[in-house]
Amino acid sequence: MKKIYSFLVAALVTGLLLWVAGCGGSQQTAAPGSGGGKIQVKFSHVTSETSPKGQAALKFKELLEKSGQFEVQVFPSSQLFGDKEELEMLRADNVQFIAPSVTKLVGFVPAFQIVDMPFLFQNDRAAYAFYDGPAGQKLMRSLESHGMLGMAWWINGSKHFTNSKRPLQKPADFKGLKFRTQSGGVLDEQFKALGAGSQTIPFGEVYQALANKTVDGQENTFNNIDTQKYAEVQKYLTISGHGRLDYLVITNTKFWNKLTAEQQKIVRDALQEATAYERRLAEELNEKSKQNLLASGKLQVYQLTPADRQEFIKAMQPVYQKYTDVIGREYIEAAQKSGQ
Ligand code: LMR
Repeated sequence: MKKIYSFLVAALVTGLLLWVAGCGGSQQTAAPGSGGGKIQVKFSHVTSETSPKGQAALKFKELLEKSGQFEVQVFPSSQLFGDKEELEMLRADNVQFIAPSVTKLVGFVPAFQIVDMPFLFQNDRAAYAFYDGPAGQKLMRSLESHGMLGMAWWINGSKHFTNSKRPLQKPADFKGLKFRTQSGGVLDEQFKALGAGSQTIPFGEVYQALANKTVDGQENTFNNIDTQKYAEVQKYLTISGHGRLDYLVITNTKFWNKLTAEQQKIVRDALQEATAYERRLAEELNEKSKQNLLASGKLQVYQLTPADRQEFIKAMQPVYQKYTDVIGREYIEAAQKSGQ
């Protein structure tokens, strides 16, 4: 009797273990969200919620959640991960979407520094034409061997200089100043060509670095200068439009490959709509921020004249000499043609 009882208990425990193992296996192989639970998505970024990127991330969340299959959490202002961590966290699937300024992808694909080549893109339209054309699409796909998938180009806009020391009207005015950069050799070379120093600082730490004078100045879009309140810690703004600051929305292949074809289509459609929204908003919010900065009276503003611009183009030629081959002539030529 005791033997039969032990046998029954052993059979019951074995059966239970096999059932549990079976459940675990099917959970791993099934597409995320199957079996009733929604697919959990985290979207992390570094700018404010009111920036074009912040607003578009919320739009993407709204559109994706409408499908009933996804639940999206958006973390703005480096709340979850800053510049340094977000790329590694994406690759580890600890976050499913990020939208870094493409300059920050330089460690994976140096060609993304195309946006930093001085005075290369004529305007927003030229940048859109490049991003949406064959060269931009090829560049977007170049992250795949690093476990990441570029999904959409988002825009911020043209960069301008601010600093706390003096008006910057001619290349010589930069001599001896130190500027914050996002990352990458092109930006270091740009400041070197102007006789200035540079230091890479994560976006979330820039305000403090300007306030405590770790650096004298920085370069950014009107909207970032405005929403990050740099006018509180800077005195001079030079409207130069010398480079661009734009984004790539990226997911990781681990997450992406677990989605069904239908779920992938939902994501792509939501991103397409959010992208159109983001680009409209970027132009609108940058113009609004420019007016805010001009009206605030906190910054002394100088706009480069066409003649100043020529001087800067000449002074920054060493950047092209050093980086044309690093970035790739085909990309540079495509960017030049995109303005025509
Ligand atoms: C910066 O670091 O200045 C920008 O890349 C921040 C951003 O995401 O717009």
